[in-house]
Amino acid sequence: MSVDDVDWGALREAARAVARRAYAPYSGFPVGAAAYSDDGRLLVGCNVENAAYGVTLCAECSLVSALVTGGGGRLVAFTCVNGAGDVITPCGRCRQLLWEHGGADLLVETPDGVVPMSAMLPQAFGPEDLKR
Ligand code: THU
Repeated sequence: MSVDDVDWGALREAARAVARRAYAPYSGFPVGAAAYSDDGRLLVGCNVENAAYGVTLCAECSLVSALVTGGGGRLVAFTCVNGAGDVITPCGRCRQLLWEHGGADLLVETPDGVVPMSAMLPQAFGPEDLKR
């Protein structure tokens, strides 16, 4: 998959749409995430906060859950946006989640352009390390 194979505009619009469903009464910071899987599914997720703040689910958590509950597969292209619709970068924990389900080659949109996941999480710990 190369950067030009992806309809990034459609992916961003899907992320903006799902951000409007975010449950973020504590931070007031809605997030929407969208991704394509390797079998062409469009997956989305939004953040779901909790009165026990640390229990909050990031948008990427619900996106990864949608991937797995929808039959699994690999993520190939990903974006996430804030409530204003601007592209943001995934938090550290969510980079780890994305690594597990997309690996080094997952294409991630950032405010500075599209980069592979290997640039977002250098020297990542992942499934391969468990085999050593
Ligand atoms: N958030 C996400 O959903 N994904 C990220 O990658 C960054 C942070 C959410 C968590 C929390 O509900 C709000 O943004 C503020 O941190």
